Amino acid sequence: MSMDNEQDFQGQKVDLKLWKRLFGYALRNKKQLTLIILSLVFVAVIDALYPFLTRYAIDTFVNPGGTPTTDGIWLFGAIYAVLVIAQSFATMTFIKRSGEIEMAMSYDIRQEAFWHLQNLSFSFYDKTSVGYLMARMVSDIGRISELISWSMVDIFWSSFYILFSVVMMFVFNWKLTLIVLAVIPPLAVVSYVLQKAILKYQRAARKQNSRITGAFNEGIMGAMTTKTLVREEANAAEFEAISTDMKKASVKAQVLSAVFFPLIISLSAIATAAALLLGGAGVNATLLGTTTFLGAITAGTLVSFITYASGLFDPIQNLAGIFAEMQSAQASAERVIGLLDTKSDISDTPEVTERYGTTMDPKRENWEPLAGDIEFRHVDFYYKESEPLLSDFNLHIHPGETVALVGETGAGKSTIVNLTCRFYEPVSGSILIDGRDYRERSELWLQSNLGYVLQQPHLFSGTIRDNIRFGRPDASDEEVAAAARMVHADEFILRQTKGYDTEVGEGGARLSTGQKQLISFARVILANPQIFVLDEATSSIDTETEQIIQSAITTVLEGRTSIVVAHRLSTIRNADRILVIRNGSIAEAGTHDDLLALGGYYHDLYVHQFREDALAQALE
Ligand SMILES: Nc1ncnc2c1ncn2[C@@H]1O[C@H](COP(=O)(O)OP(=O)(O)OP(=O)(O)O)[C@@H](O)[C@H]1O
Ligand SMILES: [Mg+2]
Repeated sequence: MSMDNEQDFQGQKVDLKLWKRLFGYALRNKKQLTLIILSLVFVAVIDALYPFLTRYAIDTFVNPGGTPTTDGIWLFGAIYAVLVIAQSFATMTFIKRSGEIEMAMSYDIRQEAFWHLQNLSFSFYDKTSVGYLMARMVSDIGRISELISWSMVDIFWSSFYILFSVVMMFVFNWKLTLIVLAVIPPLAVVSYVLQKAILKYQRAARKQNSRITGAFNEGIMGAMTTKTLVREEANAAEFEAISTDMKKASVKAQVLSAVFFPLIISLSAIATAAALLLGGAGVNATLLGTTTFLGAITAGTLVSFITYASGLFDPIQNLAGIFAEMQSAQASAERVIGLLDTKSDISDTPEVTERYGTTMDPKRENWEPLAGDIEFRHVDFYYKESEPLLSDFNLHIHPGETVALVGETGAGKSTIVNLTCRFYEPVSGSILIDGRDYRERSELWLQSNLGYVLQQPHLFSGTIRDNIRFGRPDASDEEVAAAARMVHADEFILRQTKGYDTEVGEGGARLSTGQKQLISFARVILANPQIFVLDEATSSIDTETEQIIQSAITTVLEGRTSIVVAHRLSTIRNADRILVIRNGSIAEAGTHDDLLALGGYYHDLYVHQFREDALAQALE
């Protein structure tokens, strides 16, 4: 599943299996569905009764060529009024219930998609943009739910109405009925073909629209960068090109719509005119006491017949339109189903799930305790096949050991972290935890025993307390506070107006990187995992927070196997072993003193980068 899926599926056959699955979501709402069908039968029957009442009114109260009477006109009016009111209530019912089905459907599909997305691997998110996923979640799922719930209404109503009307027409005059029905096949074909074409251009416009949204997103999110790089003009030109494409497609859709409706009206007008011409002659003949080939026919019959005939065209158009729309929404339907069916690159094998359980239903009783021995054995890895990153990478970290990774940007430090956390898996070779390939045990097993603070620490919207408690959901408020105290995060937390109940904002946006890291450290303390992975933030942090973070790191490292991507001299000196990573392999390894004595890359790094750190430390 990637952006490449955004191709044109136009002209593709309606895949009934797929739609059946989607209709399945609507069918879950049995109560609503029953009410909809009942109210629609009711509405359609009453719709089909109106022309019948008209016929009665004309032939009784007007009675052309005879003596009109007003006897029973009040009763007639009352019956008519009751029908109108009853129909209004039925209409309200089905509109309300279809709305409910639409909401329930999009809720169900979104829930399912959301659960599914959460379980997909990091590599899925490398290939798939957030904008794309948002569009799927919001517009595709919304569109499918709307289409299905409302087309069900249309299908039911149109079918019932056509059925009742045609029966009534045949009862009145079967010859005239056949004449009128003759225009239906061409009408259905024209409706289908043109509506399909209209939808095609509307779809193209929508597609451009999502590109516009994407461009907006980038343009706005990257506004700062755009300004500093003076990219405004180029961005504006790109944006204009996309907007122009959208305008063209929209105009085509409008032109076709403009042709479509007059064409349909003309076709139905021909049928109605034929019925009027022949039927009118029949009425005249009847009044004069003779008959045409249509047999005896009253003015009331003709009027109601014409009403039935012209009323038929709407539902036929509706049905043809639904089919065209399903065909055009085929791509949306495929994307929704595709999203629900995406397989994760990283998932536990059936044997592993059997023994260790799933994320939803873990079998903790089978989980082995973890000592914290980590080994990379002949690991090859790349994000893109054309850019190999690690090849035959070997590293053994003993339980309780702290290993610091240093190296230039892009050297592969975070990649080693990603592999350790099993956010990605080795392309070949293996990573062993306590001597066993981590793929032999469940993802949840590893992640429950491993705590990490990433380069860009992520918080969830909610309070500070909620965020720390993610480490161990059953922890008491006291335990949360104790964890925060251990890493000295409580100092800044208590300075917030609402203390632990302060909202952190979306992604933790209202806190500084340093503060986010402190909360993440507290989270790790609470979870108390055997393995700890830290990818130090490179962004600058104020001196006070800096010192607190340093002591927090010392606390968290205590008694755990740790891999630390380090940018601070203090963190590096804390480590048992320092590895210099260059181009995805270990260039130098040893303690701080070993490496300084070696006089290689680490020595240079120390001289250029850390001297200031060291100086600052010496001055304290
Ligand atoms: N998700 C990804 N998809 C594709 N390429 C990636 C991805 N993440 C990293 N890379 C590439 O892999 C290489 C190593 O990146 P990595 O993030 O491991 O470097 P790093 O040593 O952590 O650098 P820094 O010190 O800047 O954090 C880089 O060339 C980077 O562009
Ligand atoms: Mg990194």
